[in-house]
Amino acid sequence: MGLVFLGLFLMVVSATAADEAAFVGVNIGTALSDMPDPTQVVALLKAQQIRHVRLYDTDQAMLRALANSGIRVIVSVPNDQLLGIGQSNATAANWVSRNILAHVPATNISAIAVGSEVLTTLPNAAPVLVSAMNFIHSALVAANLDSHIKVSTPHSSSIILDSFPPSQAFFNRTWDPVMVPLLKFLQSTGSFLMLNVYPYYDYMQANGAIPLDYALFRPLLPTKEAVDPNTLLHYTNVFDAVVDAAYFAMSYLNFTNVPITVTESGWPSKGDSSEPDATMDNANTYNSNLIRHILNNTGTPKHPGIAVSTYIYELYNEDLRPGPISEKNWGLFDANGVPVYILHLTGSGTVLANDTTNQTYCVAREGADKKMLQAALDWACGPGKVDCSPLLQGQPCYEPDTVVAHASYAFDAYYHRMVMGDGTCNFNGVATITTTDPSHGSCIFPGSGGRNGTFINGTALAPSFNSTTSGCSPQFFQCEYFYMHSVLFGVVLWAAVYL
Ligand SMILES: *[C@@H]1O[C@H](CO)[C@@H](O)[C@H](O)[C@H]1NC(C)=O
Ligand SMILES: *[C@@H]1O[C@H](CO)[C@@H](O)[C@H](O)[C@H]1NC(C)=O
Ligand SMILES: *[C@@H]1O[C@H](CO)[C@@H](O)[C@H](O)[C@H]1NC(C)=O
Ligand SMILES: *[C@@H]1O[C@H](CO)[C@@H](O)[C@H](O)[C@H]1NC(C)=O
Ligand SMILES: *[C@@H]1O[C@H](CO)[C@@H](O)[C@H](O)[C@H]1NC(C)=O
Ligand SMILES: *[C@@H]1O[C@H](CO)[C@@H](O)[C@H](O)[C@H]1NC(C)=O
Ligand SMILES: *[C@@H]1O[C@H](CO)[C@@H](O)[C@H](O)[C@H]1NC(C)=O
Ligand SMILES: *[C@@H]1O[C@H](CO)[C@@H](O)[C@H](O)[C@H]1NC(C)=O
Ligand SMILES: *[C@@H]1O[C@H](CO)[C@@H](O)[C@H](O)[C@H]1NC(C)=O
Ligand SMILES: *[C@@H]1O[C@H](CO)[C@@H](O)[C@H](O)[C@H]1NC(C)=O
Repeated sequence: MGLVFLGLFLMVVSATAADEAAFVGVNIGTALSDMPDPTQVVALLKAQQIRHVRLYDTDQAMLRALANSGIRVIVSVPNDQLLGIGQSNATAANWVSRNILAHVPATNISAIAVGSEVLTTLPNAAPVLVSAMNFIHSALVAANLDSHIKVSTPHSSSIILDSFPPSQAFFNRTWDPVMVPLLKFLQSTGSFLMLNVYPYYDYMQANGAIPLDYALFRPLLPTKEAVDPNTLLHYTNVFDAVVDAAYFAMSYLNFTNVPITVTESGWPSKGDSSEPDATMDNANTYNSNLIRHILNNTGTPKHPGIAVSTYIYELYNEDLRPGPISEKNWGLFDANGVPVYILHLTGSGTVLANDTTNQTYCVAREGADKKMLQAALDWACGPGKVDCSPLLQGQPCYEPDTVVAHASYAFDAYYHRMVMGDGTCNFNGVATITTTDPSHGSCIFPGSGGRNGTFINGTALAPSFNSTTSGCSPQFFQCEYFYMHSVLFGVVLWAAVYL
């Protein structure tokens, strides 16, 4: 039976989602004190080769600016219009006429998102959600647009319970009376499930049970990967695990052929002191890896090769958004269209790809334990065979004379000598990869292009590695600790989220 379902799924889904390659789009929130005008927005989208966007409304000027741009658009019914539309077919038809019919075909509207995270943010509108979708769909049918414009509604992934391991996931049963007709609607209209996936929040809420690398799509050692004990599928990142949890939650309700589009995913580049992992580097790493992952058409472990197109949250930093500092810092660009950070996508020749350096550095992790840093520094300059002479008094990297600064130099020298191999910037967890050149003054870090246009690479500063002198794998600081940790992680990861 299971095989039959899987077979059907692959057939049906590949006919809808996978015959198009997965794409990466961008959400456009507008809570900026100096929101660029629509023509500027479209110019930025074009310059960045962004061909898919989602709007949170149906702003008429924005839709006009997007006309004949080749950019495909998801428009939204804002939550505050949902009750009216869900209660009246005429109101729905009127909405479609004003907001859709007035703009197609010049503006390429590909889908209508009816509300936003309605079950979790506006539960009192939940009873009319499916009728709102039905009414809007009827109006599209009447206009013969239903095959071009899909109707769906974005969900928070928090409606999926027990999502680790993914095979045990199910939708919060409170919402079965909505989810069952909703999935029927998506199935019968050839639409897709819209899901917002935020590994950042999963990571934050897991209290250490989820390693940062796992949330950021960084390579994990095989022993650190999470294995679903029921399916034996290996999960190398949180994103895939959440998407698969949604597939399993749908199949739990016997829906096995509804594809998924991720309507929001991202990482904040700045946060307050309670959000130490909302950093530029982590945001860059997450979004760069996410884009690579999506565009590679990797799919997920449950459905390899099935496209999971994804809209990054979000185009602009929205300074007017209320809440913690991170809320205002999910954007890829500031209001002037200047990138908040340059994504590492050299060579992909596609969306947002204009990185010129691709360079990474290995430095001491902020807030790392000083004793562990010192031990790692001693290891790097000793058994790790880093040339630490630039750290000596009178040498360029002596100042600032702190364990953090010295460890950063030594870690980076080691990392570059190991040609930035997976796992070579770990040092028992006290090291982290950064995209910001840590060089200062005349202290030029290995891997840095230098300040004067001189190309200085790792080998210039660190002698070639001699592996024969070290008893244990040079790859990792303190081998025995490392392996112990990695085994623990694998277990702890699933165990902790089970609770
Ligand atoms: C809208 O996008 C689809 C898919 O890319 C394309 O086939 C279609 O030609 C586009 N329509 C217009 C009017 O640009
Ligand atoms: C709603 O209106 C559409 C036309 O916009 C019509 O085709 C459909 O039958 C109506 N549905 C209901 C339930 O009245
Ligand atoms: C399920 O949803 C209901 C309604 O929103 C909520 O009260 C309840 O806490 C949720 N259950 C879980 C386990 O999150
Ligand atoms: C799913 O299908 C199985 C087998 O037909 C059935 O036993 C089960 O009740 C169905 N579950 C739901 C939620 O409809
Ligand atoms: C790209 O996909 C191939 C298989 O389709 C896989 O082997 C490879 O690891 C993927 N690369 C990335 C960066 O995900
Ligand atoms: C990258 O994109 C930004 C924003 O559009 C632009 O200012 C910058 O010149 C681009 N860099 C390259 C190398 O194309
Ligand atoms: C940039 O990084 C990617 C992934 O690590 C790599 O495949 C690519 O060759 C690098 N490009 C350059 C110019 O170094
Ligand atoms: C860059 O120039 C400054 C001043 O001319 C010099 O002190 C420094 O050593 C140079 N750095 C490199 C990497 O050449
Ligand atoms: C380091 O730089 C030197 C001189 O530019 C070059 O010959 C060498 O190939 C470089 N090594 C690496 C690993 O890039
Ligand atoms: C590596 O270390 C051994 C023992 O100290 C030494 O004999 C050998 O020459 C070294 N090899 C290199 C490439 O430095």
